[in-house]
Amino acid sequence: MSVRYKQAVPVVFGPGAVGEVGSEVKALGCGKALCVYDRGVSAAGIDEKVKAALSKAGIGIVVYDQISADPSSELVDKGAALAASEGVDCIIGIGGGSSMDAAKAISLMMDNPPPVSQYLTLPPMQLETHVPVVLVPTTAGTGSEVTAVCVISKLDTNEKLGLFHRGSVTAVLDPELTLSVPPAVTAYTGMDAFSHAVESITGRSRNPRSEVLALDAIRRIVRYLPIAYRSGADMEARTNLSLASNFAGIAFADADNHFGHSIADALSATFHTPHGLNCAWGNPELIRLIAPAVPDKLALIGQAMGLSCTGAESPVQLGEQVAAAVRELMRSCGIKSPREMGFTREQVVSGAPLAFGSGLRFNCPVDITPELAQSAMEGVYDNYQ
Ligand SMILES: [Fe+2]
Repeated sequence: MSVRYKQAVPVVFGPGAVGEVGSEVKALGCGKALCVYDRGVSAAGIDEKVKAALSKAGIGIVVYDQISADPSSELVDKGAALAASEGVDCIIGIGGGSSMDAAKAISLMMDNPPPVSQYLTLPPMQLETHVPVVLVPTTAGTGSEVTAVCVISKLDTNEKLGLFHRGSVTAVLDPELTLSVPPAVTAYTGMDAFSHAVESITGRSRNPRSEVLALDAIRRIVRYLPIAYRSGADMEARTNLSLASNFAGIAFADADNHFGHSIADALSATFHTPHGLNCAWGNPELIRLIAPAVPDKLALIGQAMGLSCTGAESPVQLGEQVAAAVRELMRSCGIKSPREMGFTREQVVSGAPLAFGSGLRFNCPVDITPELAQSAMEGVYDNYQ
C-alpha cells in the first residue's frame, strides 16, 4: 500500500516574525487585506502588531473583529460580504483555530458564492480560491495555519462541519504572540496539539513524515507544556510549544485525526467545553483502545514521552502505561476531570452515539463499534477522576 504526503504551506517562524506579515502580503502581490480576529486578540494588542507591519509595507487594512469560538456560517458570510464590498485581495487570520478557520472560509467565499452553509457537507467538500490567506496563530494548539481544514458551525443544525481550503496559505509563526495565553488555554491547546500528534502516528492514513514530525511534537509538549502552564512568560517553553503545534499540524494535515477527535467532538457537542480539553479527556481512552492494533506505534509514543518501553510489554500493558503517562501530563498542567467540572457519568456516556457517528472513526486503526464507543466514553469518566 502506498501513502501520499505533500509539502506544507510556507512558514515564517521566529520571535518577532509578526513584523514580516506586511512584506509577506506584498510578496503575494496584494495591496489590501481583511484582518479577521476576535476581541481577545485586540485585548492582547496583537492586532496592532499586525496592522503596524501591514502599514509599514503600504498594505491597506480592513478590520473584521467579530469572530467568536466555533465560528458560525453567518460570521463567515458577514466577513465575506465585507471583503467583497471593500475589494480586499488578501485575508489575514489572527488568533486560534476559530479566527484562522474563519479566514480560510472567507477566502473561499470570494470565489464561491455564499452562503457558506451550502458547502458544509459530509464528507467535507474541497473548494478553491485565488485569494491568498496569511495565518498568524496566537495560541499553540490547532495547527490550523498549516492545514486545509476550516471547521464552521451550522447554527440551524448545531453541527460543526469541515470544509477543505485549496489555495495559497502562508503561515507566520511568532511564539511571542503566545506569551499572553492564560494557563488553562495553554494547557487545552497544548493537549489539542498532543492529540493531533498521537492520532497522526496511529491513524490508517499515517505516513513516515507525519510520524517524524509528530514524535518531535510529543517530545516538546511533554517537556515544555507543564513549564508554559506554570510560567507563561517562559520564552523557551513558548517557542517549543509553537513548533510542536505547527509540526503536529503538518503531521495531521496529511495523516488526519481519528477517533480521539470523534470523542472530543461528541464531548464538545454535549458540554460546549473547549476543543483541547475534550481532546485531552479522550486521548488516554483512545490510546487504550488502539494499543492492541498498533503496539509498535504506541511504543514510539511512550519512548517520546520518556517512558522505558522495551517492547517486552503486552499491547494492553503498553496502552495502560502510555495512557497513565498522558493522564499525568494532564494533571501536571491542571486539567480537571469531567467529574471535577460537575458533569455526570451519564452525561459523558450519552455522547457515545455521537462519537460513533463521526466520520473520523474510519481513520482509526481499530474498527469502531457502538460498544467500543460506549466503553471509551465510560473510560473518559471512570479513568480520570
Ligand atoms: Fe484538534
